[in-house]
Amino acid sequence: MSNQQEQEYGYFDDVAKEYVITTPKTPYPWINYLGDTAFFSLISNTAGGYSFYKDAKFRRLTRYRYNNVPVDTGGRYFYIVDGDTVWSPAWKPLKTELDHYECRHGMGYSRISGMKDGVTSSVLFFVPQGEDLEVQHMTLTNSSLTTKKLKLFSFAEWCLWNAEDDMTNFQRNFSTGQVEVEGSVIYHKTEYRERRNHFAFYSVNESIQGFDTCRDSFLGDYNGFDSPEVVAKGQPNNSIAHGWSPIGSHYIEVELAPGESRDFIFTLGYVEMPQEQKWQAPGVINKTKALAAIERFDSVAKVEKSFKQLTDYWDDLLSKFVVISDDERLNRGVNIWNQYQNMVTFNMSRSASYFESGIGRGMGFRDSNQDLIGFVHLVPERARERIIDIASTQFEDGSAYHQYQPLTKRGNAAVGGNFNDDPMWLVQSVTVYIKETGDFSILEEQVPYDNDESKATSLFEHLTRSFNFITHNLGEHGLPLIGRADWNDCLNLNCFSMEPNESFQTTENKEGGRAESVMIAGQFVLFGNDYIELCRQLGKTAEAERAEGHVEQMVQAIKAHAWDGEWFLRAYDAFGKKVGTHEADESKIFIESQGFCTMAGIGKDDGKLQQSLDSVNKYLACDYGIVLNYPAFTEYKIEYGEISTYPQGYKENGGIFCHNNPWIMIGETVAGNGDRAFEYYTKIAPAYQDDKVKLHKTEPYVYAQMIAGKEAATPGQAKNSWLTGTAAWNYVAITQYILGIKPHYNGLQIAPCIPRDWTEYSVKRVFRDVTYDITIKNPEQHSSSIGWITVDGERIAGNVLPMFEAGSLHKVIVMLG
Ligand code: BGC
Ligand code: NOJ
Repeated sequence: MSNQQEQEYGYFDDVAKEYVITTPKTPYPWINYLGDTAFFSLISNTAGGYSFYKDAKFRRLTRYRYNNVPVDTGGRYFYIVDGDTVWSPAWKPLKTELDHYECRHGMGYSRISGMKDGVTSSVLFFVPQGEDLEVQHMTLTNSSLTTKKLKLFSFAEWCLWNAEDDMTNFQRNFSTGQVEVEGSVIYHKTEYRERRNHFAFYSVNESIQGFDTCRDSFLGDYNGFDSPEVVAKGQPNNSIAHGWSPIGSHYIEVELAPGESRDFIFTLGYVEMPQEQKWQAPGVINKTKALAAIERFDSVAKVEKSFKQLTDYWDDLLSKFVVISDDERLNRGVNIWNQYQNMVTFNMSRSASYFESGIGRGMGFRDSNQDLIGFVHLVPERARERIIDIASTQFEDGSAYHQYQPLTKRGNAAVGGNFNDDPMWLVQSVTVYIKETGDFSILEEQVPYDNDESKATSLFEHLTRSFNFITHNLGEHGLPLIGRADWNDCLNLNCFSMEPNESFQTTENKEGGRAESVMIAGQFVLFGNDYIELCRQLGKTAEAERAEGHVEQMVQAIKAHAWDGEWFLRAYDAFGKKVGTHEADESKIFIESQGFCTMAGIGKDDGKLQQSLDSVNKYLACDYGIVLNYPAFTEYKIEYGEISTYPQGYKENGGIFCHNNPWIMIGETVAGNGDRAFEYYTKIAPAYQDDKVKLHKTEPYVYAQMIAGKEAATPGQAKNSWLTGTAAWNYVAITQYILGIKPHYNGLQIAPCIPRDWTEYSVKRVFRDVTYDITIKNPEQHSSSIGWITVDGERIAGNVLPMFEAGSLHKVIVMLG
């Protein structure tokens, strides 16, 4: 399964579940994420990036400079002085040419190795499970024939906790910085003397011969990270920072005999102390907790044990859904990288990546609900907790804060609400969660509104209010009012902004707000049907019937007012004019309403569904994926808002906004077109883009939010990698709708919709602790019709697999026919 053939920048090593980067000069920094619950780090292939605790805005541990020159400035850096040669094992920041370089990004870890003049430094970076620290395990090896006397400098620059304030409030911040140094540990304690109960540390498990904690002293005046003065003179200053910019740098002298190796374990950690235990003496921090954490990683054996725990954890997670087909790209995407990206988007929402600065956006209400659908099979307990957190920020009328902060779990008032698609995403995530787990008890949880416990109701009631929010907010065509925007944040139909300093998302909307969304209409039908099905499962027949009435009405409204002749309209604007119509000069057709209406099966009975999909294929599909709208807006049209601010072909204006491509894939499976569904899948799935890596620029192992569309000046160029609903939705499209293994309340449902020329594939699926070993056979070149299914040799009726005792294993054969 390994594709070891060398590409220009690297290759997939599927056995190790790694992407191996073979040059530091990738077209853009290619990053990875460390940590999965509280302590997180971003790390690029040249060791750039930063760490934070829970919240990338309020608890930023180390500094990083976004949009800096050179690109990717700031990270965990090492400098090695070997005689007259000075080099960095991850190439940056010194950029001395290396004799060998390799970066292996794996599941929750990265290993970066550099070699120069017979010395190899290999550093394994990871965040041990359950710990609030990053381990940097360096192995230095001398493979030359002479003894090497090396000088090693480490480097990390502290961020003064609030990442936004840290970048702006210099009149205060240049006076507050404080550190302590004791033994081999450098402590960062800015503001600890006042309201903070937390500090950070950077340690190494060897005795050091010096240190620096003052950036200016370490670098020297006017120098960059690529030419620190202490490295040049080969001697630290033992500086203590008082304000300005505190850093942590260890200095170690290492003598290595030919063939000798030495290990150094650096840990960069975060500690919170109870108020009454903060100090060990006046002004001296109580270090017991920090030292205990450091001790847990002070030997290679301890690090290896903890690293094995991490790799075992991932092996286990990735054993829950395994496809085995003769398409190694499919296997690679589904079994490794897509699921990994799902975990990362679940953890980060849209907060911290190399495109998301970690200060603007916390957890998105719609984003986190959607991230969950690709993650729930991995760690259902965490999905459960997330659902409660999200629902707790909902308002009593069913609407919601658009975002909340992960640290406080409270709604973000600066952004507010009124994105009228938000409520229904909660219905999707909760029903998906219950189908995966069978845990109906979540519906009885008492969940507050706007974090006010006194207003708590059952979670089920939250869903009812989500549903009712739509029926209470319909416009003149019986379609849902759009509010500030629906899924497309940039279609701001009620906004009318002429003020460049205001955000399209938060600025005051025009009184009245008449604009209606066909996307939300389709979404209401799709997830409304999920709500109805849930009510039926619960025996709430009257509620199911009430809801059915509303959904049916919505279908009628769509058919009567949202069909343009060849495709579904996108919206009605604030003047009651059609949006996304052949009558318009630009943006005649949009993807979102085609996606949601076809996923919901609207128009399957009268040909509209197929026609809508055919129009997508004709007008929106291109070589790099499916664009969002066509033709793109060529000028600012105030009545449409932000969408028309983007140059043609980028972002929401004619870009391939990958998030919505799987909606069309799923729509194609509803229509029974397996060939087309899969073709769309391969257009954007990272594993299939080996010939486009250079063009894309972003990481070849994960989805990007956007690929420039066919009308762009640079078609095919990707941006905004990692944090995007693309990950979860593509995973659902390929695993549930194309490969056709779909969790249901009463068992696993089998409903493949595949290219006709696939003759056979297998899926191992662990569902509610039962392992199903499923082989789908297709000797007669069908796409979706099922001839028969056997479970352990017995024919079953229907296509839902029976449930069994936990821990058991069952063999399933599915014959298409
Ligand atoms: C982007 C959207 C994003 C929105 C809110 C817009 O500029 O194009 O993709 O969701 O900002 O941050
Ligand atoms: C990015 C946002 O995170 C997401 O919520 C939104 O749906 C898309 N942009 C489209 O505008």
